[in-house]
Amino acid sequence: MQIHVTSGAPGSLGSQALVIPLFVDGRLDGAAKTADAELSGAIADVLGSGEINGAAGETALLHSTKAPKRVLVIGLGERDKFEMPSLAKYAGAAVRYLGKRNVHALAFTLPLEADCDPEQAAAFIVEGALAGTIDATTYRTEPDKPIALDEITLVATAGEHEFDKRKLEGGAERGRILGEAVNFARTLALTPANDMTPTHLAKAAEDIANRYHLTYHVLDEAQMRDKNMGAILGVSSGSDQPAQMIVLEYAGDPGSSEKLALVGKGITFDSGGISIKPAENMHEMKYDMSGAAGVIAAMSVIGQFKPKANVIGIVPSSENLPGPRAVKPGDVLRAMNGKTIEVINTDAEGRLILADALCYARELGATKIVDAATLTGAMVIALGHAATGTISNNDAFRDHFLCVAKETTEKYWPLPLYDEFSTTVKSEIADLRNSAGRAASSLTAAAFLKAFVGDVPWIHLDIAGTAYTDTETPYLAKGPTGYPVRAFVALAEDVAHSDGTARNGAGAAATTSTRDATAGSADVGGADGAATTRAH
Ligand code: BES
Ligand code: MN
Ligand code: ZN
Repeated sequence: MQIHVTSGAPGSLGSQALVIPLFVDGRLDGAAKTADAELSGAIADVLGSGEINGAAGETALLHSTKAPKRVLVIGLGERDKFEMPSLAKYAGAAVRYLGKRNVHALAFTLPLEADCDPEQAAAFIVEGALAGTIDATTYRTEPDKPIALDEITLVATAGEHEFDKRKLEGGAERGRILGEAVNFARTLALTPANDMTPTHLAKAAEDIANRYHLTYHVLDEAQMRDKNMGAILGVSSGSDQPAQMIVLEYAGDPGSSEKLALVGKGITFDSGGISIKPAENMHEMKYDMSGAAGVIAAMSVIGQFKPKANVIGIVPSSENLPGPRAVKPGDVLRAMNGKTIEVINTDAEGRLILADALCYARELGATKIVDAATLTGAMVIALGHAATGTISNNDAFRDHFLCVAKETTEKYWPLPLYDEFSTTVKSEIADLRNSAGRAASSLTAAAFLKAFVGDVPWIHLDIAGTAYTDTETPYLAKGPTGYPVRAFVALAEDVAHSDGTARNGAGAAATTSTRDATAGSADVGGADGAATTRAH
């Protein structure tokens, strides 16, 4: 795919279609105004007719014999509620609408009148445009034609911002790297579990390490046994596929002893084990390695952006099957830190493999840990598919993360980690039990994990509701969403920033941001389209 940046008149572009954002106030300015003039007022006519009024996600396609031959107007909602990440939806919607109609060379006008930073706008548009393309039918003997995107042109013609080609290109390049990584994570998650075993996942991580010069190592089951990782080995015992403890490392700040660990749940298929799940929707449990895919994809971006930070990605990976040697309810496992765990429910396997991974993160020198896991069905009940539950042993770290993540297209929402949840996960016969009933089960799961992080500042992201959706939106296909790649990358970059040094590499033209210190929600943007329920 080619990316161009221009300040030229819309009519002079070779693109097959020009995409124009429109706010509810219906004001045509910047490139939209120029294009309207070139089309003798055709855009204003459509607005005047009431066919479209700028509401978020609305579309109107205009044809003309003059260039631009097609103009796609896309509503951005109310101007004063506009937030930059929604540009990714704007772009994704355009790519999906036009791509299905055989239009693969798109010019996007940047809504610079909304006073957005051109470089950031470019990054969001390219990220969202790429996320709009994905082909999920690769296993068909005659796959659907993918929504191809051959060319993106970013048109910046107005606003108080001076046209700075280099900055726009930098932003677009960041968007490209991020969008491709998001699609890579989605493709890993989409891959059926017979083709995405722990060994395959390790191979994918190794390929990324080779391509982006990261350090890679993996522990096999014998090495895990040497390290007393009895929790992940317990989960793996019901499967013929060997578990893998996969590690990718990026050392961008050798002078510092700070190290951020990104840990992702890599259950390549979760049948529930002996506590087997109902058949309905069980096939979706191939997505139970979405956290792992997010870690590997985020590490690939970090290897390209090259922030001044040390980041380690850790992926505990296993199948959860009810084989003859499978762990049984009532069995007691011993994790790497020596803590004993009574297995009440073999379907609460995510916290078991994460227990050893969190211990290993500390052994490898992590000074901050963030894990992402499709951990609890209750998360979908609590926040639906709208936001990721964000739980931490350190409020300051969590609030900081929420601020950083707010500037991405992903949404995160804080949930409490009260001491009583730690009491709830105590076992009668062992240190911990892996299941403590239905009440607040997303939070008792987090309390369980907390027992393995010691005093390291740690955040747990339960992506059970956000990692995939079963509803297509105008801007995103159904299936995996690419959570939490964007927030992971943003956090790694923020770690680099916080010691006041600039980024290098592809990250040089990075976004600067104004963060308000309000802890809490990231309430705009994100792949939040779906609102249906899944039962497990
Ligand atoms: N992978 C599931 C959680 C899940 C369910 C993710 C639905 C996405 C959609 C996890 O391993 C699981 O089975 N959790 C159980 C835990 C319970 C047995 C304590 C759950 O949440 O029901
Ligand atoms: Mn499970
Ligand atoms: Zn699971």
